[in-house]
Amino acid sequence: MKALIYYGPKDIKLEEVPMPEAGSKDVLVKIERAGICGSDLTAYLYDGMGVGILRKGQFGHDGQFGHEMVGTVSQLGSEVEGIEVGDRVFINPTVCKRNGMLGCDVAGAFSEYTVVEDAKYGYNLYKLDDDCSFDEAVVIEPLGVGTHGKNRIQVRPSDKVLIYGAGTIGLCALNACLAVGCQDVVVSDMNAQRLEMVKEMGGIPFNSAVDGDLKEFLMNLHGPVYDTFGQAKTAIDAFIDCAGAALILPEIVSLAKAKSRVAIVAVYKRPAELNAAGLLSNEMTVKGCCGYETEDIVEAFNNVNKHRTEIPKIVTHHFKHEDAVKAFEFAADPAAGGIKVVIDYE
Ligand SMILES: NC(=O)c1ccc[n+]([C@@H]2O[C@H](COP(=O)([O-])OP(=O)(O)OC[C@H]3O[C@@H](n4cnc5c(N)ncnc54)[C@H](O)[C@@H]3O)[C@@H](O)[C@H]2O)c1
Ligand SMILES: [Zn+2]
Repeated sequence: MKALIYYGPKDIKLEEVPMPEAGSKDVLVKIERAGICGSDLTAYLYDGMGVGILRKGQFGHDGQFGHEMVGTVSQLGSEVEGIEVGDRVFINPTVCKRNGMLGCDVAGAFSEYTVVEDAKYGYNLYKLDDDCSFDEAVVIEPLGVGTHGKNRIQVRPSDKVLIYGAGTIGLCALNACLAVGCQDVVVSDMNAQRLEMVKEMGGIPFNSAVDGDLKEFLMNLHGPVYDTFGQAKTAIDAFIDCAGAALILPEIVSLAKAKSRVAIVAVYKRPAELNAAGLLSNEMTVKGCCGYETEDIVEAFNNVNKHRTEIPKIVTHHFKHEDAVKAFEFAADPAAGGIKVVIDYE
C-alpha cells in the first residue's frame, strides 16, 4: 500500500510500504478521508516531536502519521465481535496508542490502510449512519477538540460565549456551543474569510483588525455588567481561546465579569502573561484543554452523524492521496486560504 512518510520538516514522501496486519482482536480499516491537522502542519513546518509525530527511524518508528480519519472496515480478526466488513467508521485516535503517540495502532490517517487494535464500537470505533458521508465525518475529530473546550468549562445554553480564533478549532468550538443552544456566540479573528464562515454558521464575527474596541462591541451587544466597584464589564460567561496569541489572556481578564470561565484550547508556543490579581478579584476559573474524552467524542460524533451541525463546511479543499505532498504544501501556506484540507482515497 501507499503511505505518506514523515522524514522531518518539509520532508515527507509518499512511499510503498507493507500492508499492516490485523491480529485476532483487531480490524483492518481502508482509509477513505484524512484531515490535515494543525499538529501535522507543525511537524511539517517545524518538528513533530512536540505534537506526537515521529520521524522515520526515530525510536524505531516507521514514519507513518495522521490521526483525523474515517474509513471502511475491510478485514476482521477472528475474535472481533459486533463489527462487520463494509462498516463505515470513525476512528478515535486517542484510544489507539502507537508507541505512546497520537494516531492509529499500526499506520495512520495518511496511509491507505490502518489497523485498529482491540477494536470495539464505543471505544475506538464509531459506526456511521448510511446517510452520513465521509466528507462530513472527517471533521468529527477536530469537533471533539472544540467540544472538549466547551465541556471543560461547562458552557450552558444561557451563557454568553467569546471564542478567540476562527480556524478549524475555533469554528469547531463555535459549532459545539451552537449545538447546545447558545445564542450570540462571538468569534474574534482578523481573517475576513474565516469570519465570513463564522457568520455563515450562525456566530457573530468580530474582526479585531477593523471592528474597533472589543469591550465596547461586547457591551453594545449584550449590555454591560457592573462589578462591586461600579466598573462596567462585559457579560461574557465563557471564553474559549483557540488562537493562542500573547495579548489574549490579559485581554480576557480585562473583559471578564465575576465567576467567568476560560478554556485554553490553543497551544501556546511560549509562556503568556496572566494577571493573577484580576483572576482573584473576578473569581475566575481557567482550564487547560488537551484533546478530548470519550463523552466529547460521542457528542461530536452524534452531532455530525445526525447532521445537527454545520461543521462539515470547514472542509475547504480536497486533494487525492497521490497528491498528499501537494496537499501539505497547500495547507501550510497561510495565503492559500484553506481551512480544513482533506485527503481523499476514493
Ligand atoms: N488542545 C488541543 O488538544 C488542541 C488540538 C488541536 C489544535 N489545538 C490548537 O488550537 C489552536 C487553533 O488550531 P487551528 O487549527 O484552528 O489553528 P489556525 O492557525 O488555523 O487558527 C488560529 C486562528 O487564530 C487567529 N488569531 C491569531 N491571533 C489572534 C488574536 N490575537 N485574536 C483573535 N484571533 C487570532 C488566526 O488568524 C487564525 O485564524 C492552535 O494553537 C492549535 O495548536 C489544540
Ligand atoms: Zn487533529
